[in-house]
Amino acid sequence: MEFFDKMIIPSSGSTLELMKYLLSLALVIFSIYSGVLLTSSVMSFIFKIIAARKNNDNYFRMSKDYIDLITPNKTMAIGLGIVPFFSIIIIYIQIFNNFKNDIILFFLVSLCFFFVAQVLLYLYKYSFKHTSSEGNVNRTGSINTLTGLIGIIFLIFSLRLFFGLVVLSLDSGNWNFSGSLLSMLFELQVVINFIQFITLSASISSVAFIVKYFYWDKQDENINQEYINKSGIINSWIAIGFAFIQPFILLIDFYTMPDNLLNNNSYLFGMLSLIALLIFLHLAYAGVRYNNFRNISYSFYLILLTFTLIILKSQSSFSLSSGQQLLTLTDNYDKLELALLEKEGKKGPQINGAEIYNAKCTACHKFDQKLVGPPHKEVMAKYLNNKEGMVKFILNPVKVNPEYPEMPNQALKPKEAEAVVDFMFKEYGNKLN
Ligand code: HEC
Repeated sequence: MEFFDKMIIPSSGSTLELMKYLLSLALVIFSIYSGVLLTSSVMSFIFKIIAARKNNDNYFRMSKDYIDLITPNKTMAIGLGIVPFFSIIIIYIQIFNNFKNDIILFFLVSLCFFFVAQVLLYLYKYSFKHTSSEGNVNRTGSINTLTGLIGIIFLIFSLRLFFGLVVLSLDSGNWNFSGSLLSMLFELQVVINFIQFITLSASISSVAFIVKYFYWDKQDENINQEYINKSGIINSWIAIGFAFIQPFILLIDFYTMPDNLLNNNSYLFGMLSLIALLIFLHLAYAGVRYNNFRNISYSFYLILLTFTLIILKSQSSFSLSSGQQLLTLTDNYDKLELALLEKEGKKGPQINGAEIYNAKCTACHKFDQKLVGPPHKEVMAKYLNNKEGMVKFILNPVKVNPEYPEMPNQALKPKEAEAVVDFMFKEYGNKLN
């Protein structure tokens, strides 16, 4: 993709690190927005059909309230939908730099569908007319119902593709993939993730419905008590039902995730999301049991938190598997910077292995004595003919010896780690037997 190559900006290590956080943030915003958009449109559509069958104005009203939930104005569609979506694509372009794959192209396809879906759903929304004198909602013609349906289908297609690509991108093994990306979209891991997204979004939408119409907006006089009770109860049960199956989905999600993509952060975020979810269920159930919807409004933040934590959980896998790539990009940037400096006749920053070693390693290591970490005497021999192996370990420490804790990452740049290893072998190499 020649065109995308032009959009790559060489970035320093700290900029790349920042991009990773921005990616998580944009994903959280976009997932919540698009999820609520999708599920509230589906609910609006379903209630519209039920209303037509039963000829019941309450259901019509609910159908309208549902579509109004996340489409108060067009700025919202751009700010929470298109802008984060676009940022996500730009960040992926930077990170997939030098990998040849079609992931970005498919992201753009998904973006086009997303855009069309939004236009159609806004048309659907405007087709509802409120006749305030009678306090009920006009039944709109079947053409408008069709607009809604096509909008929903476009949206499902777009989001299914989008979240499939996000899940595939978690594993750097997929970045060089040249076969059919589309067939990979049907792997269990990808499908489970989408089900998780839809069901959690449905919970969020129905809680948002209660909070928005019963607490945030002043209730207008036209609403009758019957409508309040009916929609409150229906929405609470939808929220509870979809939230209830989340622990099982999370379990399957962990089970299908490749081991090399899981670390302590994944489990931590997974656990926290479960705790938030359980408190949510407790409050929401208390709400229906005692007919007190105020509890539900507190639980709104808990279900948002649950969703956020689940996204952070999957992004910790991305962090893990993109580590090597970010180091390569950082290294490229440093080389570029160095070359520029040399061109101007200046010397680049000198890297001194001994200095770094004394500053960063001696707190835990000595040559022939055990401190926090093992004595070098015992571990360096195996790297004698494999210095790159040692550089790799220092850049990205993994658990080796069960008698020691895991070595914390010292956040060295590749050049610095090489210099430290050179220094260590110069200093201690001849003392290894
Ligand atoms: C906070 C303490 C700490 C610091 C700082 C630290 N290490 Fe370690 N290091 C450890 C521990 C603990 C282990 C044992 C890890 C294991 O076996 O899982 C270890 C293991 C190692 C190993 C052996 C790896 C192997 O394959 O067995 C090397 C080499 C090493 N460290 C080099 C360094 C260098 C170079 C630095 C400085 C840049 C450094 N360490 C800084 C704690 C530290």
